[in-house]
Amino acid sequence: MPKIKLAEKTVELIREICAQFNNQETELINVLHQVQHKLGYLPAEVQEVIAKELNASVAKVYGVVTFYSFFTMLPQGQHPISICMGTACYVRGAEKVLTEFKRQLGIEVGQTSADGKFSLSCLRCVGACGLAPVVLVGEKVYGRVSPQQVSKIIAEYQDGCASAQSA
Ligand code: FES
Repeated sequence: MPKIKLAEKTVELIREICAQFNNQETELINVLHQVQHKLGYLPAEVQEVIAKELNASVAKVYGVVTFYSFFTMLPQGQHPISICMGTACYVRGAEKVLTEFKRQLGIEVGQTSADGKFSLSCLRCVGACGLAPVVLVGEKVYGRVSPQQVSKIIAEYQDGCASAQSA
């Protein structure tokens, strides 16, 4: 993957977040969460700055980013779609829902659609098992999703804005 040159203000932002956690290596996961929340993803160049600020090895930061499924090194679509693959969701048909999203968007897990609108990922339990199977689009939660509802969910975001009504 080509090297990204980080803007100075991006580096500053990362430094500020690390400072909020007292540049403690033990706060690595919290720092990664905050940085991903602000930047959308955690490419290698961002990980290098975090490692330097927390006085941690780049290998350690990389290890944590790749271990947890909620961290991503790839740029996300405008509307990141995440399907919960935790036990409750899996048992209630999450895999069929995922297959339908893949089919309709024409992308695999970890990819972003050509127009940059949607990206697809899987999560472990998001703590809403009573609503299984659960799908997140950005921070909006959809519960008891069936494959038949997938087109309706995608359509909500096709015009660039989500409808206010919940599924
Ligand atoms: S298993 Fe999906 S929310 Fe718990």
